[in-house]
Amino acid sequence: NRTCVSVDLGGTKLLTAVIDESGAILRREEKPTPVGGGASAVIGAIAASVASLRAAAGPDELPPEGIAIVAAGALDAENGVIRYASNLNFTDVAIGDELKRLTGLPVLLENDANGAAYGEWKHGAGKGSNDCMFITVSTGIGGGFVSGGKLIRGATGSAGEIGHISIDRNGPLCPCGNRGCVELYASGTAIARTVAADIASGARPTGRVGELAGGDASKATSRLVGQAAAEGDAYALAVLADAGSALGFALAGAVHLVNPEVIVIGGGASRIGEPLLGPMKETLHRYGIKAMVESLRIEQAALGGDAGIVGAAALWFDTRSA
Ligand code: BGC
Ligand code: NA
Ligand code: ZN
Repeated sequence: NRTCVSVDLGGTKLLTAVIDESGAILRREEKPTPVGGGASAVIGAIAASVASLRAAAGPDELPPEGIAIVAAGALDAENGVIRYASNLNFTDVAIGDELKRLTGLPVLLENDANGAAYGEWKHGAGKGSNDCMFITVSTGIGGGFVSGGKLIRGATGSAGEIGHISIDRNGPLCPCGNRGCVELYASGTAIARTVAADIASGARPTGRVGELAGGDASKATSRLVGQAAAEGDAYALAVLADAGSALGFALAGAVHLVNPEVIVIGGGASRIGEPLLGPMKETLHRYGIKAMVESLRIEQAALGGDAGIVGAAALWFDTRSA
């Protein structure tokens, strides 16, 4: 079986794995992303993981053909450059060339959500579909679209930036330069920020969420909000309904653009389930063209945190010849 090394370069964790053509993960290594040291520390950490995974290869294993790496942000995929990634504080980092210099292996660079979209389409919840939209609700909100078996990459590889669809042109400024981006309202980070602000200001009673956070604004997380909502807490349900509705409104625009047959929803915050996804679907159906949303399937992602690495590898094997 052909193999490659996949890398999911996140703002907090760095996941590296050897994956074969069938999508099987042969070995993996996970470590914190060394964010304080700038781009060279991050690239050095990736090269070190690649080296240790290669050193542990089994006797019958084919050597990796290359490195397939996914990262958040706007990319120049063709030239292997991360143009702008706020989670890593990267601007114009030539990660492809640098990794090639350190490892001797050719490098494929793709957006994290685009990679996950391809993974879910090829091996996960979108398998067998022809027009598969993927969204991830986590630190940010990302998206990707696979049509006719092909990942839609756009002119520079940044197609699918669903998180930066604006839902209010007079809304707050986003680090991307736009205003009112949906990820400012509906990402895991945004959900936590809303609760933190309510705890800090006392503007509205934060019910069970406030209790779970011990009244400490800095302890507010989307996971606690999900837990309180599962217990039926009215405040948590209201916060999640707002976030879900914002997401559904942005999705209506995305659905009108590409007319998917299925939307696969992944990312940590998506595990909150119905309290977030129910209002999302309701709003999508309210603002979406009926003929386009009535037959649309919505599925929870199947590959969890491995979607990015599995998808990156699949992209490698499907776009590069052996
Ligand atoms: C970034 C996307 C990324 C998403 C999920 C967003 O903030 O702009 O590129 O896919 O977060 O990580
Ligand atoms: Na994307
Ligand atoms: Zn934005």
